[in-house]
Amino acid sequence: MKRQIVISPSRRVEGSIRVPGDKSISHRALLVGAMGEGEMEIEGLSPAVDVASSRVAIGSLGVQTLDLNVRVESVEPSTSSTDSQILLDGRGMGSWRAPEGVINVGNSGTTIRLLLGQLAGSPVSTTVTGDGSIRGRPMKRVVAPLREMGASISGEDDGDHAPLVVAGGRLHGVAHTLPIASAQVKSALLLAGLLAQGETSVEEPAPSRDHTERLLEYLGVPIARSGKRLIVKSTNVQNAKVTVPGDLSSAAFFLVAAALLPDSAVEITGVGVNPTRTGVLDVLRMFGARVEVGDVIEESGEPRGTVRVSHGDRRSLDLAGEMVVTALDELPLVAVLATAAEGETVVRDAAELRVKESDRVATIVNGLSRMGAEISSRPDGFVVRGPTPLRGAEVDAAGDHRIAMALAVAALTADGPTAISGWDSVAVSYPGFEQDLGRLVVP
Ligand code: S3P
Repeated sequence: MKRQIVISPSRRVEGSIRVPGDKSISHRALLVGAMGEGEMEIEGLSPAVDVASSRVAIGSLGVQTLDLNVRVESVEPSTSSTDSQILLDGRGMGSWRAPEGVINVGNSGTTIRLLLGQLAGSPVSTTVTGDGSIRGRPMKRVVAPLREMGASISGEDDGDHAPLVVAGGRLHGVAHTLPIASAQVKSALLLAGLLAQGETSVEEPAPSRDHTERLLEYLGVPIARSGKRLIVKSTNVQNAKVTVPGDLSSAAFFLVAAALLPDSAVEITGVGVNPTRTGVLDVLRMFGARVEVGDVIEESGEPRGTVRVSHGDRRSLDLAGEMVVTALDELPLVAVLATAAEGETVVRDAAELRVKESDRVATIVNGLSRMGAEISSRPDGFVVRGPTPLRGAEVDAAGDHRIAMALAVAALTADGPTAISGWDSVAVSYPGFEQDLGRLVVP
């Protein structure tokens, strides 16, 4: 049954919290650890259901993981206490065995795409599938370049849609040039490259998130660079302890709420500030919010720090190109910001939004229109004319976690209660969102 939540308007948000571990980095720790040798302690693993899908997937391939915490409640109140500390027992890819049934990745695009690269060069044959959203998402973007490397993958629509049958085997290196920036595709090809004979290289049109590169280099895997091209060779991965920073994409909901509601100020500690992910902070600065990033340290190859955002001006935005890539998962929030901005906000070059967990152009345009926003879709993005006061309404998250939470932020600024259906999807990335929001809102 679809769960519905009612969010009431809020006067402001204030306070300091930590957010759960980064979802993208958590996936990579599990999947890279599963092909590596030796123990990998992972601290701060995200509690997201998507990440559990990666853990279940590697478990079904014979890679064992063990929970090390129940973690002691930290001084800063947060559901990040639900992060896990786990121990992964890596025995190299040679130890992988075929799962008993199919591998079901649920809603997780990162799991299926990265795993396809690994399975293609593995000693096992298996079938991977996922929920309705996953089965509708394009897989050819990773299947086609893997086939060039010698992969045997078959499935619906010539391998464009799961379920996909992968027969692991010998791969050879290929120089790939990606038509679109995609961290999932890039990562799948780099991981396949570690299993291939000869050199594998990947170049993308704009720099997508580089967590895979950072993790591999942290674990001692050499990655050569020639201009924008990344080059890897067959290498064994030696596991080591990985500490996962907080997820900036989860923090973004509170940061945007702080930028929208007068007299607000929110601080997020221990959050990832990798420059390939911080587009949302640039967006907030352009909008007119006050944004500070401090106490930055690097752990396991990833920068983390404290981010503070407080309410300021409300200027319209014009986003395209690389900016769209570094703020990719936060673009639904940009639409919410834009409803309060003076003038017209345009987001272009974001056609990728249409093939995420939902068609995020359609779902955010639909939700915010119902709340009274002047928003219309474009083939590659959306246009918002502001400011328009939002009104409470009945809206549907369309099974998409980021749309559900973006609509919840919009609801804080509306003039009456908003009922959001499909709220259960929130657990896909942020199971404790409701509680953390409750810590920050001033009703
Ligand atoms: C992700 C990459 C992004 C992003 C997704 C997570 C990742 O997709 O939208 O939520 O962990 O690699 P792309 O493959 O389009 O970059």
